[in-house]
Parts: sequence; C-alpha cells; structure tokens
Amino acid sequence: MTKKIVVVKNMSVKFDDFYAVHDVSFDVMRGEIFGFLGANGAGKTTTIRVLCGLLPASSGVVIIDDVLFIKGRENDVKKRVGYMSQRFTLYDDLSVKENFDFAASLHSLDNDWYLGQRKKLLDFIGFDRRLKVVVKNLPAGIKQQVALCVALLHDPEIVFLDEPTAGVSSRARMQFWKLIRTLAKNGKTIFVTTHYMDEAENCNRVALMRAGRLIAIDSPDDLKIKTFGDSLYRLTARRKNPNWPDMNLLDMWQPYGANFHMQFKNGVRAAKYLRALKSDWEIEQIKPSLEDVFIKLVEEQDI
Ligand SMILES: Nc1ncnc2c1ncn2[C@@H]1O[C@H](COP(=O)(O)OP(=O)(O)OP(=O)(O)O)[C@@H](O)[C@H]1O
Ligand SMILES: [Mg+2]
Repeated sequence: MTKKIVVVKNMSVKFDDFYAVHDVSFDVMRGEIFGFLGANGAGKTTTIRVLCGLLPASSGVVIIDDVLFIKGRENDVKKRVGYMSQRFTLYDDLSVKENFDFAASLHSLDNDWYLGQRKKLLDFIGFDRRLKVVVKNLPAGIKQQVALCVALLHDPEIVFLDEPTAGVSSRARMQFWKLIRTLAKNGKTIFVTTHYMDEAENCNRVALMRAGRLIAIDSPDDLKIKTFGDSLYRLTARRKNPNWPDMNLLDMWQPYGANFHMQFKNGVRAAKYLRALKSDWEIEQIKPSLEDVFIKLVEEQDI
C-alpha cells in the first residue's frame, strides 16, 4: 500500500473540442483532507467523476488506491471510492432505510455486515430519527449527513464530497466539517470541493483550479505565504471620498465590506506610499486568508 491514494498525471478531459480539464497532475496522500477549489465551471466535478470511475479521462494516467485506472476496471475503482455528488445525494421520495438498502444492494454487501455498518455510521452522525422517515422530510443539514453515511456504506478508503455543504445552514456546515475531521483522524481520505473558503481552511492541502487547469497546490498556510508574503494591508477610509491609491502600483485592490484589501506590486516601495495614504485611510497589515488567495489567484481581478 503506497502512501499516495490518488495519483493523477497529465489528465485531460475533453468534451468535443472543449477541455473541461487540461493536463492536470497531482497526488493525494492517505488520510489527508484535500480541498479542490475553483470558480464555477473550473472542472472540479468533471475531475471527481473521472476519479470515481464514472467518466473516462481523454488522456493521462489515474491511479486510485493502487489501482491503475484502465478501461474495464471501473468497478474496481468504484469499490474503493465513496462519492457524494453535487446534484444528487439521496432519493427524496424514499426513506432513509430504503436509501441505505439501495446503496447496499448496489455494492452487493453482505446483509449482516451491512446492518452493522449502517448502525455504526448512523451512530457516528448521531442520527436520532426513525429509519422510516422519508428523506424529503429531513432538514437539509441532516440529509447531507445521511448522504455522507450512504457514501461511506461500503467502507471506502477515500470519499469524494462535491460541495457537500451547499445550501445548508452555517451551523450544519460546522457540524459537517466536524464529521469530516473525525473521519480523516480515523484514517479516511477526504477529497472535497467547496465554494466556502472558511471551510477550505480545514484542509491539509488545497488545489486551485482555473478554467480546467491546476494553478496552485499547497497547504493553506504555504499558499498564503507564497501568494502574499507579508504584503497584504487592510484599508478603512477615515473620511468620505478619500484619495484613492494609485492603482498602477497595486497587484490587488479588493473591497471587503466597508474595507479594502490591498497588495502592492512587487518592487514598489510600500513604506513611502503607505505614509502618503495615512491621512485618508486607516491602514493595518493583515494576515491573508484563503479567501484572499482565492480572489488573487482564481478570480484574478484586473485593477
Ligand atoms: N458532459 C459535458 N458535456 C459538455 N461540457 C461539459 C460536460 N460536463 C461539464 N462540462 C463543462 O465542463 C466545464 C467544467 O464543468 P464542471 O462541472 O467540472 O465544473 P465545476 O468546477 O464542478 O463547477 P461548479 O463549481 O459550478 O460545480 C464547464 O464549462 C461545463 O460546462
Ligand atoms: Mg461542480
């Protein structure tokens, strides 16, 4: 058993002439929480579908849990991965029990083993409702947790979660991430996409996708340091209609509520310009967040 549970080398996925994923290479280590980030249409779901054996890559090499992914081995891959899809998680008109039963039959699980595993998973999320409850009657946060259990039912080494917390309350998001952290602590590998950068801070490493290409991969802290060093400032206007900084000197100027986050271009003598700005702006040097990194690298606004 190698330490790498996912190996992707020069993977591309083409739809006709369009590259949804273009020459992407990365590894995922066993037991890590790996965040896969990018704007809408960046190629996250397409990548996940390939890694779950649901869509063939157009080119490149994919190895999942030591299984080289070649045509005809889709089922070997599917056995090793859990998948919580972005659009579909559970059958709304079926009960919780029926959803589990269905997943158990898809994976041809031994009945006694299945019942034990179901109990273990429902205990894990603290499910305190009846198994007969119809899924559409569950609160969104609980539904997502049950969907996570269903994805884990066959006890895969790695689980792919495609925006698992979209559309649930912030409390439910926090609870969900607590479960994710516990799973990782117990050795599972979590491959997760999210549009919430505060959630992505929980990841051991994150990969940033833009327009089908991988543009950065690192731990959240290293990404922040590499992207900003100590050159990020928060500016709050001291008065109405302040004098604006010279945008030609800036690499980033981003509104954040009533404040702005600002980064000078490389080589600009910041101290001199900061002094000039001080009469109109309160200026504080700040630690970048992943949100800052995302805005800078993924959205890369032109100023
Ligand atoms: N079956 C398909 N046929 C043609 N184009 C597709 C197909 N599936 C995805 N695409 C295109 O590939 C690109 C990447 O889509 P994908 O769903 O992987 O993005 P994503 O990063 O998951 O976005 P989101 O954050 O909105 O979920 C998009 O431009 C999408 O329209
Ligand atoms: Mg998607």
